[in-house]
Amino acid sequence: MAQLWGGRFTKATDQMVYDFNASISFDKRLYRQDIAGSLAHVKMLAKQGILTEKERDQIIAGLEGILADVENGTLAITSEYEDIHSFVEANLTERIGEAGKKLHTGRSRNDQVALDMRMYVRDAVKETDRLVKELLKVLYRIMEENLDTFMPGFTHLQKAQPVTLAHHIGAYFEMFKRDRSRLADIYKRMNYCPLGAGALAGTTYPLDRDYTAELLGFDGPTMNSMDSVSDRDYVIEYLSALSTIMMHLSRFSEEIIIWNSNEYRFVEIDDAYSTGSSIMPQKKNPDIAELVRGKTGRVYASLMGILTTMKGIPLAYNKDMQEDKEGTFDAIDTVNACLPLFTGMLDTMKFNKDVMEASAKNGFTNATDVADYLVSHGVPFRDAHGISGRLVLRCIAENKALDDLSLAEFREESEAFEEDIYEAISMKTCVEKRLTKGAPGEAAMREALEIYKKYLESDH
Ligand code: ARG
Repeated sequence: MAQLWGGRFTKATDQMVYDFNASISFDKRLYRQDIAGSLAHVKMLAKQGILTEKERDQIIAGLEGILADVENGTLAITSEYEDIHSFVEANLTERIGEAGKKLHTGRSRNDQVALDMRMYVRDAVKETDRLVKELLKVLYRIMEENLDTFMPGFTHLQKAQPVTLAHHIGAYFEMFKRDRSRLADIYKRMNYCPLGAGALAGTTYPLDRDYTAELLGFDGPTMNSMDSVSDRDYVIEYLSALSTIMMHLSRFSEEIIIWNSNEYRFVEIDDAYSTGSSIMPQKKNPDIAELVRGKTGRVYASLMGILTTMKGIPLAYNKDMQEDKEGTFDAIDTVNACLPLFTGMLDTMKFNKDVMEASAKNGFTNATDVADYLVSHGVPFRDAHGISGRLVLRCIAENKALDDLSLAEFREESEAFEEDIYEAISMKTCVEKRLTKGAPGEAAMREALEIYKKYLESDH
């Protein structure tokens, strides 16, 4: 039991209480942030004349030694300490003696942990953004290669109108692009330094909070010391963004699972990203997509967890807030594992273009275009809708596509049909005519790709 307090106690902590209270088992992953925060803090203390330069240099050397030893594996972070802050401070004092005891001047573990968590989440936001960008690059490549890969667009999971694979993938491009802009937003809002807030009411030492904030790469210090130690909004916002990313990945996974099914065969997931069955030799299962879909639940759970933890906490710091960590770490690990796996699966996936196109044709996705053709030949839309519907009914009975009807068969329903009907309802025409901004027509899609290209080339 190594703890940073005890002066006012006459009895040792009960072991069960100690274990229940300790956070080292999970906050040990904050060691880098904790040490970086302490380094900035002592530099500021020395600049303000609160520590001597000698003390500062001793502490810096000690902290750097601890960091190096943890990283090279010679110093283990064990449950002998209550939390990561106690671990660092105890080790520092062990190494450098008296000066180590001055590290915590003008600081509380409340502003310290608020800083550590903020820096950890700040790094995680950047990493998530990088991984989403990698996914977007693969989506872009698939779009570029499939501007004329026709497939059915669905509503109600029923074939609706023809689109292209590029257009379908483009919908996901938009979703993940929004995810990145959410992350950028969160980063901007959270990038303020809580250190110097003390336990809740600032300190009596002449701290230079602007300087500490600058050293740690923040846009400035936070403005209210009570809010500084009790704010976990950025955790909630980040978990909400992660939940949305997972929701997008999950929807995409669901589509891939459907497309990869024996019935659809739109895609084939690469062997390297598939798994087999222990009993059924023929099986090749889309486990990665299923796991991504499944893991969405635990990321939502982390968001619900922290929202619920925070809802009843009076100002300022309360121990409840220690519960912000495990769920957040789990969500970060989950999303940061799902994103590259999903990207790899997508990058190696084979698209069965002929199956997709045949499915679009056989699903009467050009029935609207048959009606539109009639309208352009003077038939009122409501009549045209009826004629096209009767032709579809006939095709269903005869098990063929609209394109397979002879001109005579078309004309049995309406004299307005001419030889050019085939051209008018070919998949190519049906898609190419859809040229409104954001539509699947090739010209419209090329315009979108041009914008996406510039977006991917830019830094953010
Ligand atoms: N382990 C604590 C946490 O994660 C650190 C802050 C402790 N502060 C305190 N006053 N007990 O929240």
